Parts: sequence; structure tokens; C-alpha cells
Amino acid sequence: MKNTAALSLALMLATGLSSTFTLAAGDPEAGAKIFPRLCGGCHQVGESARPGFGPQLNGIIGRPAGTSANYVYSDAMKNSGVTWDRETLIAYLKDPKGVVPGTRMIFWGLSDEEKLDNLLAYLQTFTQ
Ligand code: HEC
Repeated sequence: MKNTAALSLALMLATGLSSTFTLAAGDPEAGAKIFPRLCGGCHQVGESARPGFGPQLNGIIGRPAGTSANYVYSDAMKNSGVTWDRETLIAYLKDPKGVVPGTRMIFWGLSDEEKLDNLLAYLQTFTQ
């Protein structure tokens, strides 16, 4: 039994590590190609990014949900208590309403892990 516990701890650590490495492995250039198509209708990034139908996403990784200036969020998003990191962003993009029930983001969900990695690598290049 003790061994099982040690083994699952080791597995958890290994999974944690590998997700850190996967983030680094995502391809920001591939992400830059899919962002305009999948997200760009509602979200902007970059120096001149402004809130549109959705909030601008500069610095989204590490930001508490619902805190970008000059954007009126749903109560659901403001009160979600979520902080955007790799895990929460991937879960949200796979199933927005599963992570923030009542969110106004209408998105069918993206389940392709490679595209998610690339998108996150791209978003990570916009730090503020
Ligand atoms: C049809 C418009 C639309 C599309 C497409 C869309 N979003 Fe959104 N997104 C929104 C809206 C609206 C909100 C604000 C939701 C709320 O307040 O409940 C939002 C919120 C978010 C948030 C939370 C922001 C914050 O400041 O807390 C993230 C992260 C996000 N979207 C990422 C993405 C990504 C990445 C894509 C592309 C894969 C995408 N969205 C596609 C409309 C969209």
C-alpha cells in the first residue's frame, strides 16, 4: 500500500513536470496562425489590444479571471475564483461552461491538445 502511495505521488510529480515541459514545447508561430481564426473575432492581443466582444488577452496566463481593465464581465466570470494557468485555460477552452458555468463566452470548445499547446505558447508571448 505504501508503495502504491509513493508511486502515485511520483506519477503526480511526473505529470506536473511534463505539463510544464509541454507548455514550453508548444509552437507560438502555429498558435499565431490559429488565434485569429478561433479567438480573434472576439479577443485581441498585442500592443494595441482593446477589449472587443471579449476582453483583451495580454498577460492572461497568471491573471485572475475577470480582471482585465475596461471590460464588463459576466458575474459568472467575475465571481469564478479561477486564476488562468495552463490547467485552467486548457479546461476552459475545452469546455467554457464546464469551468465557468454561466460564462458569456460562446465557444464550442477545442479539444485538440496540440492546438491548445500552440495557442497557449502564443498567448504566453504577450506578457502585459
Ligand atoms: C464568440 C466570441 C468568443 C470567442 C470565439 C472566444 N471568446 Fe474568449 N471570451 C469571450 C467573452 C464574451 C468572454 C467574457 C466571458 C464572461 O465575462 O463571462 C471571454 C473570456 C475569455 C477568457 C477569460 C478572460 C479573463 O480576463 O478572465 C479567456 C481566457 C478566453 N476568453 C480565451 C479565449 C480563447 C483562447 C479563444 C480562442 C480559442 C476564445 N476565448 C474564443 C468571447 C469569445
